[in-house]
Order: sequence, then C-alpha cells, then structure tokens
Amino acid sequence: MKKYEQVIDLAIRKGIFFPTAEIYAGPAGFWDYGPYGVALKQNLIELWRKHMVQKDGMLEIDGCQIMPEEVFKNSGHLNSFQDPLVECTKCKNIFRADKLIEDKTKKLTPEALKAAQFDKLIKKYKITCPSCKKALSDVKMFNLMVKTLLGPKQADVAYLRPETCQSIFIDFPRVYKTMRAKLPIGLAQLGKSFRNEISPRQSIFRLKEFTQAEIEIFFNPKKEKDFDKFNEVKSYKLNLALLGKEDKTLAISCSDAVKKKLVRSKLVAYYLTLLMQFVERVGIDKKNIRFRELGGDERAFYAKAAWDLEIKTSQGWMETVANHYRTDHDLGLHSKGSKKDLSVMDGDEKVLPWVWETSMGIDRLLLMVLDNAYTEETVKGEKRVVLKLASKVAPVQVAVFPLTKKDGLPEKAQKIYNVLAESYTCQYDIAGSIGKRYRRMDEIGCPFCVTIDHQTLKDNTVTVRERDSMKQKRYKIAKLHTALNFP
Ligand code: GLY
Repeated sequence: MKKYEQVIDLAIRKGIFFPTAEIYAGPAGFWDYGPYGVALKQNLIELWRKHMVQKDGMLEIDGCQIMPEEVFKNSGHLNSFQDPLVECTKCKNIFRADKLIEDKTKKLTPEALKAAQFDKLIKKYKITCPSCKKALSDVKMFNLMVKTLLGPKQADVAYLRPETCQSIFIDFPRVYKTMRAKLPIGLAQLGKSFRNEISPRQSIFRLKEFTQAEIEIFFNPKKEKDFDKFNEVKSYKLNLALLGKEDKTLAISCSDAVKKKLVRSKLVAYYLTLLMQFVERVGIDKKNIRFRELGGDERAFYAKAAWDLEIKTSQGWMETVANHYRTDHDLGLHSKGSKKDLSVMDGDEKVLPWVWETSMGIDRLLLMVLDNAYTEETVKGEKRVVLKLASKVAPVQVAVFPLTKKDGLPEKAQKIYNVLAESYTCQYDIAGSIGKRYRRMDEIGCPFCVTIDHQTLKDNTVTVRERDSMKQKRYKIAKLHTALNFP
C-alpha cells in the first residue's frame, strides 16, 4: 500500500472518517467523522479560532447555509462558478476536462479556461474516454452549486452556499456598525459549504459537503501599504513558489518580499504570515509549507491575485488554503444588485472596502495533518504505526491505564482520570495487555499514556510513557501536569 492509502486505511479502521451512508453504498464525495475525527477536527478549529481569529481581533459570524438566488446572481456564482465537463459519446460516463488533460500532460491545467480552449487541448492531446477509449463530447460548463426549492409551492429558488464568505460580505456593514469596528477589520466564519463536484476524490480532499474556515479582511485600499501590525512579522520568512518558478521555493523575509514587490503589500504579507504560523502550529514542518502564486488563468473569477497555501504530502504539494485578493468585487456587486450602499466610514472618509481572503478547507487540512503525521516503525521486529500529531491536535491527549483489573487499580485509575479529564481530552482503557493498549494509542496519535500500577497504591506515583520516544518515567500524581507539558 502507498502511504496515502495507509492513511485512509487507518482513518477508516479507527473511525476517524468513513464514507457517508456506508451500508447503502452512499454517493461519492460525502464522508462522516467518528469520535476521534470529531475531536481532531474540533482541535484544528479551536487553534484556528484562537491563533487567527481571536489573536488578530477579528469578528466571527454564523450565517445561513441556504441563501436566495439573488445573492449568487449578484456575486457572479450563477454565471461563473463552474467546472468544464465532458461526456463519453459511447459509455456516457462524465469527466472533468481539466483533470483529464492534467492526467495526460502531468502538468497543472488552469481551471479558468473557456470551454473552447478546453476543446482545443483535448484535441491536441488526443484524449479519449478513460473507461472505454471512445471519443468525448464537446466541453460543457457545469454550475457547481446545489439548488433547492423553498416554500409549500416550491416557488422560491435558493442555493446551498458554495463558499461561506458570501454572508460575510452581505452582513459586513451591520457587523461593522454594531461592533463599532474600524478598518482594517477581519470577519471570520466557520461552517459547511456545498459543491456539486463532478469528480469528488481523494477521500476528504475534494468533497460535495465540506467545512470551511474563512476570513475576509476589509481594508481601505488607499491605506493598504501602511499597515502597522506588519512590524510584528517583518523578519518572519515566508516560503514562496513564484509564478513560473514553482520548482524552487524561495524562503524570504516579509520585509524583503514586500520591498521586492513579490508580495503586493504589508497587509498581504502579514496575513500570509499569520496563516503560515497557524499551519506550523498544527504540526506541519515549515519546510512542507509553501505559498504558490496563481496565474490569471488559474484564479477564481473574483480574484485579482491569489496564493494557494500548499502542504507537501506523500502525494506531492496539495492545495489546502486559498488566499484571494478580492478587491471590492463582492461588496461592489452586492451594492449594485441590492441597491443598498455597503460602504462604511473610515474616520471621515466614506469607503467601499477592498478584501483580502483566507479560505481554509478544514477537512483537507485534517487530511494533510494525518498524512504528515503518519509514521511506520519497526520495534522489536514488529510494525508500529504512529501518528506523530502535535499534542494540541491529538484526538486523545492523555490515556489512563490501570495495569490490571484487580487490587483496586481500576478505582485509583478512575480517580486520576477524573482529575486529568478536567484539563485534557482523556481516554480510559482497561482492555488487553499494556503493550496492545500503547499500540492503540500510538495509532491515534495520543502523546501520553499514564499507567497506574501496584506502586501507585504505595507512593502515589504513576508512569508516563511518551509516544515518540516510547520512554517511560515515574512521576508523583501531584506533578502530572508538569510531566504532560504541552507546548
Ligand atoms: N471563498 C473562496 C472559496 O471558497 O474558494
């Protein structure tokens, strides 16, 4: 098995995530999370909230998942949020044209080409149906939004949101006013989005229902270049894969990146840094993180500039967080479409703010974290599977084991569990040999196992076994918090 398959195998075996409606062989592109997966996902979300949203003084909202057609007519999604689709003239299977071209050429195919440009490439590379090798139809553009009908007469057309951010734009003036905010200000939202993907794939990487953590920074475009908070990050080194030079990642300080105009402003450099530091914090080594600059034909229709934060995995670099320079695209179109002025006051000046966006897919971040953490080792001739997760991210942070089921050890262990569970995500396990219990915890990335044995009853000490080194040390119960020293 390749590493990627081993990761999926582990995830399904441990119930971290698994296919939705499994017993009915449910549709592709939908996955459920089990208890360990929920804990892992929540830990990532909490770190995002703490280290990006709250640290920067952003404001968080919770908008609806269903929105009226006008929203998406005016935002441009109804016309432009689409994928190129081809159908086999014989077996009638449907494929994404850009992905077929990519598979053939082994090069990234820009997603934003027109249908006729895709047709030309399909002819040029003589691409046929991957299933039956027969000819393909002309390319049709397929809208990715999921439509629904509301009301008893099913008369009102609405859509499940394809990105969480549209309610951020629409709600912005109200939140700005009620929260007495000042530009620049970030609004954040966490929630589900829905896309009718033609080829959902790679388990939770490309889903039809997924969780986004999005941030929109609203700023006065005249003041973008003066951004005081930049001083906090000016010497932090960003990893940049510049357009046309993607083969080589450049590690460059924020100061130099702005001076050399590689990054367009201090504001953009600051938010790229905040994001990169967050991804380091969830346990990804900095050398496996980069920002790839996107060219015009790769960018979404609303973006004037874009950088994908990519994480290196066993399958190569994978897009995890999209960063877009959205200008006043959304506020401008919604102002026009709703005939409501969405501009706000910046001191004495009335402005329609511009927007920098950080759009994170939490599910794919979780997959990247698992891929980077998955390790196989041989210990005393046996395979040991370990998830080397950061302690703050691990679904179980401390496991508590009584050595045996008798002599009062379970009762003592339960008492220790009750105290530790006040501060950590804990699991109590009494089943099987200690060795087997350690292995079970290694597989879900639990960093510490606390064992209660007969000596505990005599001197109130326990052993703490550390996951990566497998070293064990005795500690007084009263000193356990020091031993479980989470960074
Ligand atoms: N809001 C950008 C995206 O969903 O890709």
